Amino acid sequence: MTRIKNVSNEINKVLYEWSSESKEEIDHLKQVEIYRREFLSNVSHELKTPVFSVQGYIHTLIDGGIEDADVNMHYLNKASKGIDRLISMVDDLESISRLESGELIVELRTFDLHDLAQDIIESVELQSKERGVTIKLESSENKPIYVYSDKDMVRQILVNFIVNSIKYGVKDGVTKVRLTESDDKVIVDVEDNGIGIEKVHLPRLFERFYRVDKSRSRDQGGTGLGLAIVKHILEALGEGVQVDSEVGKGTRFTFSLPRSK
Ligand SMILES: Nc1ncnc2c1ncn2[C@@H]1O[C@H](COP(=O)(O)OP(=O)(O)OP(=O)(O)O)[C@@H](O)[C@H]1O
Ligand SMILES: [Mg+2]
Repeated sequence: MTRIKNVSNEINKVLYEWSSESKEEIDHLKQVEIYRREFLSNVSHELKTPVFSVQGYIHTLIDGGIEDADVNMHYLNKASKGIDRLISMVDDLESISRLESGELIVELRTFDLHDLAQDIIESVELQSKERGVTIKLESSENKPIYVYSDKDMVRQILVNFIVNSIKYGVKDGVTKVRLTESDDKVIVDVEDNGIGIEKVHLPRLFERFYRVDKSRSRDQGGTGLGLAIVKHILEALGEGVQVDSEVGKGTRFTFSLPRSK
């Protein structure tokens, strides 16, 4: 009798475990489905704006604008800008889906972070000059600073932070890119004296498509994917990221990389 009872208890236990495991799996699948649906609707919403704007300019040109020497080049330039924007969105979407599906290969090697930062600052010069933002690279000495990481990934992170500091900085503002060496790490700060971010937004800042001020961000050509990409990359590198910000004063993003031995 006790044996039958024991067996029956055992069966109950197995069934209970099985049903709670299945429930967890179903909950997970439901969550994935919600996430997928949200992602698709965000993507199509974001793509619509530049697609309609390009369509508008091209229709106007077809409807006779092409003959009007005063506007034709202007409309073509606008349409071309819209296409550039679409391409950069598609590139970001591709990056994010590769990162989220875990298809990411990290290629570690030693490189000079000071040199890379300088290179990036030069590459965004056109944008920074346009907004009158000065970008300063600060390190203890102007010597090479060797880190052991994935150079392309670090480039993507720095470009995102630096371009954001230009877009959301004040006109004629200053961005400081600071490299500080500690025992086994190099700490990287990108700090601006721009509009800042209210505390309530900080926990959600790294979510895909999250923008504090949608209209301002869209004016700057922002989709809200940059920081989501940065976070994924830093996770793949096994590093975290910190953000400190004060409205009206500025914002500082901090992360670190292993020093090359
Ligand atoms: N340095 C900053 N100062 C103030 N706000 C910022 C700063 N960096 C980011 N933000 C806010 O965080 C939001 C998310 O940034 P994120 O880089 O993910 O998107 P984005 O710059 O709008 O678009 P994308 O990077 O896809 O072109 C921005 O829309 C902006 O509102
Ligand atoms: Mg950005």
